Amino acid sequence: MQISFAAPGAIGGGVLVVAVFDGGELAPMAVKADAATNGTLKRAVTVSRFKGKAGGIVEVIAPTGVKASRILLAGLGKNEEFDANAAEKLAAGVVGRLMASGETAITFAIDLPKRNKLDEAELAVRLAFGAVLRSYRFDQYRKVAEDEKPTLKEIAVRTADPGKARRLWDELSAVADGVFLARNLVNEPPNVLYPEEFARRAQELKKLGVKVEVFDVPAMKKLGMNALLGVGQGSEHPSRMVVMQWNGGKKQKKSKEGPLAFIGKGVCFDSGGLSLKTGQGMMGMKGDMGGGAAVIGLMHALAARDANVNAVGLVGLVENMPDGNAQRPNDIVKTMSGQTIEILNTDAEGRLVLADVLWYAQDRFKPRFMIDLATLTGAILVALGTEHAGLFSNDDELSSRLIDAGRKEGETVWRMPLGDAYDRMVKSKIADMKNIGGPNGGSITAAQILQRFVNKVPWAHLDIAGVAWQDSEQRPLIPSWGTGWGVRVLNRLVADYYES
Ligand code: BES
Ligand code: MN
Ligand code: ZN
Repeated sequence: MQISFAAPGAIGGGVLVVAVFDGGELAPMAVKADAATNGTLKRAVTVSRFKGKAGGIVEVIAPTGVKASRILLAGLGKNEEFDANAAEKLAAGVVGRLMASGETAITFAIDLPKRNKLDEAELAVRLAFGAVLRSYRFDQYRKVAEDEKPTLKEIAVRTADPGKARRLWDELSAVADGVFLARNLVNEPPNVLYPEEFARRAQELKKLGVKVEVFDVPAMKKLGMNALLGVGQGSEHPSRMVVMQWNGGKKQKKSKEGPLAFIGKGVCFDSGGLSLKTGQGMMGMKGDMGGGAAVIGLMHALAARDANVNAVGLVGLVENMPDGNAQRPNDIVKTMSGQTIEILNTDAEGRLVLADVLWYAQDRFKPRFMIDLATLTGAILVALGTEHAGLFSNDDELSSRLIDAGRKEGETVWRMPLGDAYDRMVKSKIADMKNIGGPNGGSITAAQILQRFVNKVPWAHLDIAGVAWQDSEQRPLIPSWGTGWGVRVLNRLVADYYES
């Protein structure tokens, strides 16, 4: 999609989108368009009894003599509710409607209601961002019918401060690219995207100046990462670990403070292993690398926008399969940390992968904080549904920053508890711990296991099993199964708290 910003001006070709304020009042740029169309817009609002509610659209075919093909009247809803997220949704709704309509260009001429807190340039780029996020397609494995083919190519946004909008857009378009990369990885089928292929795609970040290392099985054996390797040993596809480093911190003295560390679960397919899932339970398990996808998407975004920060991204890549060499329930594995884990269910594999990668990240990089993302438990879906990711953390400041960043980006997180009583639920009689707790509190006991591999460093675990993919594609900003969840919230966290 081609994006441009320009000062308000005369009506051009293509589709024009103007705003209707709460109550049904035409916004200033809509009033201008109304004058240019002999009162057509005012009439359309009256006839359709449009009160400007958020998400509402009245579509008018432009009268002859007007350059535009159609004019869309978009409701902004209540002023106090019209924020950056609402602006994204508005643009996304318009793009969803016109993506394959035959139209090739849309111009947004949206005024802010009086006393709205949004900045003009911020409004402009968030409109563009929503439009772009909605334009995502994952079509390479199917034949697309002629009338389904995208026709839309250009988005123009009218704004009082096009220069500032362009500067902001430079950054935001890098984030959109990161989200697309994460979505692509989640959407790819598991016969295409197995650990080696994932690692190969990570290598492509080198083009952006990211340092990328790939660890193969012998290298991880040498490090003692037996918990990760145990998960992958039943697969024909060998395991990998990727380590990505973005050293963009200009002022931060390397010696003084460690990098920010992001760790992703990269289970390219989770069959459950010998504790085999049911056919139904296996549905969607190509997306069990959603945490890893978010980490790679984030690293892409940070590098592409030249973020002033030092960050590392690590992804543990395995395929959890049940062949004759597969890990058994009752096996005991020795992790890189030296702690042993009794495997009681081979389907509780993500924690085994993360145990070693968290330890490695902390040991090697002495990070300022560690945040892991993982489609870790079905139990988090029971607890939080698909609206929030579960947040588990040993640090109140990091938690409140994540909650704030999530709210700003529409990727919300909800804090869950940790504690000794939960930790006791994973005690084992013959190893340092077992890999499952009891029947209750499954997301918490999983997080407790992770915490056993975290020393004093501030750490947050995001259980994204409910948000990494979606079965009914109804979120305005997300037109595909893979959501790319995590890139936005983490990028915002970095930008707002760790770059100055
Ligand atoms: N990848 C799954 C978690 C999952 C389930 C993600 C459903 C998305 C949707 C994870 O590896 C898993 O299988 N967890 C088990 C843990 C159990 C065996 C203790 C689960 O949640 O059932
Ligand atoms: Mn599993
Ligand atoms: Zn899994």
